[in-house]
Amino acid sequence: MAPKSGSQERIPMKVLSVVGARPNFMKIAPFVRALERHNARCDGHARMEHLLVHTGQHYDDQMSRAFFADLRIPEADINLGIGSGSHAEQVGRTMIAFEKVVRAERPDWIVVVGDVNATCACSITAKKEHVRLAHIEAGLRSGDLEMPEEINRLVTDRLSDLLFTPDRLSCSNLRAEGTPEAMIQFVGNIMIDTLEEERARATALALGPLLAENRLEVDGAAPPSLGEDQFAVVTLHRPSNVDDPPTLAALVAFLLDEVAQERDLIWPIHPRTRKQLEAFGLWQRLRGCRRVHLLQPLGYHAMLRLTMSARVMLTDSGGLQEECCVLGTPCLTMRWNTERPITLRSEEGTSWLVGNQVAQIRAAYQEAQATSRLARRPELWDGQTAVRIVDALAATAPRR
Ligand code: UD1
Repeated sequence: MAPKSGSQERIPMKVLSVVGARPNFMKIAPFVRALERHNARCDGHARMEHLLVHTGQHYDDQMSRAFFADLRIPEADINLGIGSGSHAEQVGRTMIAFEKVVRAERPDWIVVVGDVNATCACSITAKKEHVRLAHIEAGLRSGDLEMPEEINRLVTDRLSDLLFTPDRLSCSNLRAEGTPEAMIQFVGNIMIDTLEEERARATALALGPLLAENRLEVDGAAPPSLGEDQFAVVTLHRPSNVDDPPTLAALVAFLLDEVAQERDLIWPIHPRTRKQLEAFGLWQRLRGCRRVHLLQPLGYHAMLRLTMSARVMLTDSGGLQEECCVLGTPCLTMRWNTERPITLRSEEGTSWLVGNQVAQIRAAYQEAQATSRLARRPELWDGQTAVRIVDALAATAPRR
C-alpha cells in the first residue's frame, strides 16, 4: 500500500559496514550475525537494512577470502578492490571509491571497525558526506604517533558519533580527549564474541594435520608431533619489527638460537614479513632449522587452535594479545607500547610488553615459560558485545 500523502511513514534504517584488512573480519562477523538475529525478531521499520563493503586492502585468499568462509561472513555487497600501496595511496584510493558508494546508498549509519587504513579512509568520507559514523573498538590509544594505526584511531574517534569501547580504560581515554559522555558506549570486546562462537570448532582441529596442511618449505620431511603446551608460536608483521634489517636479523637469531633450541617454534608468516625475510637474506636461515616450522598465513580456527595450546606466544599483533588473555596463554608483546594495556599482566591480562631488544625479550621469555596458564576475562568480554552494539544502533532515530 502506498504511504498516505503527508504521512511520516518510517522506512527501515540502512546500515553500511566496512572491512578492509584481516583483523577487521573477526570483528565484523559477530556484528553481521547480530544484525541478522535482530531482523529475524523484528518486522517493518524496526528492521535494519545492511550492506557490507570490503575495501580490498587485503586481497590474498589466505588474508581475506579464507576468513569470510571460516567465519561464515556473507560475501561483501561491494568490493572496492583497493589493494596494496603506500598509506596515502591506500587511503586516497579508498576515499575516492567509497565516496561513490556513500552517495549512491545514503545510509543512516556507517560502521567501521578497528584501526586499519580502511577504517580511517571510510570515516573521513562518511563525515564529509554527512552520514553518522559508529566506531567499534573506539578509545584504544598507544600514544605512539609513529604507528599508522594510532593516527587511524585518533582520526576515526574524533569523527565518530557513536564510540563503542572494549574496556573502561578506553572510555577514560575518550573522556580525557573531551568526547561527550553520551557518545561513548562501553560494550566490551567484539573479537571475543568471535572467539567464543568459534572456540569449539578450533578445539576440534588436530595439530598434526593443521601443520601438515599449512607448512611452507617442507622438503619432504614429516611434520613434527606437537604436544599440548609444549611449542612456541611467533607472529610478526609490524614495520617497526620487520622493515629494519638489523632488528629483524636479531629477532630471527633469538628465535633460532634460543627458542628453537628447546622447543618447536611455529611461525605463520605474514606476506610483508616473508618479503622482508627474503630481501634481508634471512629466509634461508629459517628454512634450515629443523624445529622452526614456517606456515602460510593461517585461517581463523587454525590460529586459534595454536594460540590455545601454545606454551608461549611471541607476537606484535593486537588481536592475539587479546585472545591470549582470554585463553590464558603467556604472551610476549613485541612492541614498546600497546593500545591494549588491559591485556598486560599488570591489568587484567597475560602479556609482557617486551619491545624488540633481545635482552628484554629473553628475560620475559624465561619468566613466561615458568608461568602457568591462567585465563583472564576483562569486564564485558563475554561474547555478547555485538548484541549490545546492534541494540544501541537500533535505538537511534531512523530516517523518515
Ligand atoms: C595492515 C594494518 C595493520 C594490521 C595488519 C594485519 C594498516 C595501516 N595496517 O598491515 O594494522 O595489523 O594489516 O595484517 O592498515 N600483502 C599481500 N597480500 C595481501 C595484503 C597485503 O601480499 O592480501 C602484502 C603487500 O605487499 C602489502 C603488504 O603486505 O604491501 C602490507 O599490506 P598492508 O595492507 O599495506 O599492511 P599490513 O602490514 O598488512
